[in-house]
Amino acid sequence: MKILFVGDIFSKLGRSCFERNVKRIKNEQKINFIIANGENISHGKGMNEGHYKWLLEQGVNVITLGNHAFQQKSIFNFIDEVNNVVRPINMVCEHGKGYVTVNYNGLKITVFQVIGKVLMDEANLSPFTETKKLLEELDSDIIICDVHAEATSEKIAFGYAFDGKVSAILGTHTHVQTSDARVLENGTAYITDVGMTGALDGVIGVQKDIIIDRYLNDGRQKFTPEDSGKSQFCAVIIDIDEKTMKAKAIETIRIIE
Ligand SMILES: [Fe+2]
Ligand SMILES: [Fe+2]
Repeated sequence: MKILFVGDIFSKLGRSCFERNVKRIKNEQKINFIIANGENISHGKGMNEGHYKWLLEQGVNVITLGNHAFQQKSIFNFIDEVNNVVRPINMVCEHGKGYVTVNYNGLKITVFQVIGKVLMDEANLSPFTETKKLLEELDSDIIICDVHAEATSEKIAFGYAFDGKVSAILGTHTHVQTSDARVLENGTAYITDVGMTGALDGVIGVQKDIIIDRYLNDGRQKFTPEDSGKSQFCAVIIDIDEKTMKAKAIETIRIIE
């Protein structure tokens, strides 16, 4: 079975680029299931209720979030009730779910997310320990993990630590696609970062002049999404053997338009 995982969809350009590509890829590649990271979909920060509904209309089965999970207030209208949105399992918070299990043609597919600790909020629990605990509880046919972290070393170590125990470990958060996609020795598909879906010419989604001003002049302008110019669509397709839960292949997609 083929799963499409789309990296952090960022603001207006991310949404239009996603819409232009997702249905065509689904048809051409015979995709069965779509997962998308939506932590930046609403103006770069969080996911509001309207954009949540829009993602479902686009055919997304499960949405993952990240450190920006709760920055749109309207997420509290639905996050505790729905069974298709995950925030990091090791984030200390009272709202939302760290994992969801959904049925697809008689298969139990679990999607979960962890957040890193290195160069991120130290209050987060260990992604390693919390994943170990979760996997002891699960009885699913396919398990997909979004590892939302800054440090490449933390993500790579996480990949090896759980190789063979899940179907795929897919990195998000840095918004830059890495060239290390592969199936690890024990059958887990892995990539350090899937990349973002949004502006090509911003600084990971934000207008570049604002960020340059920050570094050059210690500027404090508000982060504003880059909503014009070229865009990029970044994703991976994972092919999974339904009987063994292991990945057969992982392929990256990066479309610039
Ligand atoms: Fe992000
Ligand atoms: Fe993030």
